[in-house]
Amino acid sequence: MAYAGKVDQRLHELLPPSDLAPEKLHEAMRYSCLAPGKRLRPALCLACAEAVGGPAESALDAGCAIEMVHSFSLIHDDLPAIDDDELRRGSPSCHVRFGEATAILAGDALFALAFQTLSNAPACADTVLASLRLLTAAVGTQGLVGGEAIDISSEGSAVDEATLERIHAWKTGSLIAASCTLGALFGGGDAAAQSRFAQYGRQVGLAFQIADDILDEVGTSAQLGKAAGSDRMRGKATYPALHGIDRSRAAAREHAQSGVLSLLESERTTFLVQLADFAVERLS
Ligand code: IPE
Ligand code: IPE
Ligand code: MG
Ligand code: MG
Ligand code: MG
Repeated sequence: MAYAGKVDQRLHELLPPSDLAPEKLHEAMRYSCLAPGKRLRPALCLACAEAVGGPAESALDAGCAIEMVHSFSLIHDDLPAIDDDELRRGSPSCHVRFGEATAILAGDALFALAFQTLSNAPACADTVLASLRLLTAAVGTQGLVGGEAIDISSEGSAVDEATLERIHAWKTGSLIAASCTLGALFGGGDAAAQSRFAQYGRQVGLAFQIADDILDEVGTSAQLGKAAGSDRMRGKATYPALHGIDRSRAAAREHAQSGVLSLLESERTTFLVQLADFAVERLS
């Protein structure tokens, strides 16, 4: 992915060096955030900026801020109190490598650094303020954090379709939608364009989380770089648990397709179409 290199290079600059105090905290932040993830959210952010006619660079810091939020969410999601998963991106989870206290604090610090990065993004004050409003809403109680809360409180109980969709839309769809909206915003797209890209992101986000649920069920830990089979073990509310694998796959494909159709034809770049497909067909 051509965008990933730019993102990794900028993340490398934005994250505090590990020889700066507090060294262990900075090392843990770099360990988790620079670990080899797919960089899907920042790639979407840069690609959406280009799809509205802007340069990819206009959305680079926003994309990095989003990857920091994502990395925070993975560190906290893996903690013993949440999913209790010991493997992430092919290496020991942050709390296994650095201890639980440092992992909690590294997540907190990445969350703060994300908003610091966004508030310093090279754009006019109106754009920066709008981006802060969008990203804070996406990660709040009716976004990523709220989705994680319902995910945890639903463990071991039978959830209905609407609750499951809400969990997926909030814990995963909202950050992926924000990645696309911020890309359109920094790329110079107007309010109507931003709202089309938000819709694309929401749908691709739902497809992505359904695929994540399927991979947890049918994949291996070696292939995924994280524990396979842990959803079933913890009694998680997932698409395969409610609908089975085949219907889940079909639902993921429908969401991805509907996401692409939310965009104007001129906005349906090859990359954004392929990325919607990748969200569903990926193997890790
Ligand atoms: C994992 O996200 C968490 C979910 C929302 C499913 P990714 O599958 O994008 O994780 P990385 O960034 O590639 O490690
Ligand atoms: C996590 O969903 C979504 C987040 C907000 C981190 P999962 O718990 O399914 O993600 P994985 O499978 O651990 O990556
Ligand atoms: Mg989880
Ligand atoms: Mg998890
Ligand atoms: Mg999962």
